[in-house]
Amino acid sequence: MTVAESPAGPATEAAFDYGPVDELLSKYRGIKGSLIPLLQGTQAAYGYLPKEAMVRIAQGIGEPLSSIFGVATFYAQFRLIPRARNVVRICHGTACHVSGAPLVSLEVEKHLGIQDGENTEDMLYTLESVACLGACGMAPVMMINDRTYGKLTPDKAVGALKDFSAAEAGSGNGAGKAEAQEASGEEE
Ligand code: FES
Repeated sequence: MTVAESPAGPATEAAFDYGPVDELLSKYRGIKGSLIPLLQGTQAAYGYLPKEAMVRIAQGIGEPLSSIFGVATFYAQFRLIPRARNVVRICHGTACHVSGAPLVSLEVEKHLGIQDGENTEDMLYTLESVACLGACGMAPVMMINDRTYGKLTPDKAVGALKDFSAAEAGSGNGAGKAEAQEASGEEE
């Protein structure tokens, strides 16, 4: 797995902000079975589960770090690496799966040069497979951040990404086309 660091580089021990995790540890101190809410709160605060925070949690609740890590890696809801600036979610719920989501994913992976769960090296994109996005009538569906693209083919998905990148880069070209796809959900 490609693990890209943030452009600023990895957080150092000295620079890490323990405030949020310490606050959560105080909140759940002495409460049995609080590991999952602790991890959920930590992820909500940092956007992922930083190693420093997991070490702090292990110390705080008196469990071995390996146990904390085991829980964090068992549940798909937890991320051990930060997300990139933009998150591309491809739906693999039933309706999207039977409508071609696997081929959409393959083409998007090829275009971005990463696989599911990874970040591009420039930290511009995170790619994630998700379950139903609640737009089954537009299957197969992809989201780039909070924007939804429906009735995709592999080419249309890559086109939407190219349009999005162009808009991000400030050219402005293509953003309208991507938005039109989103609004209509119609096949061209
Ligand atoms: S299955 Fe993909 S949006 Fe529902």
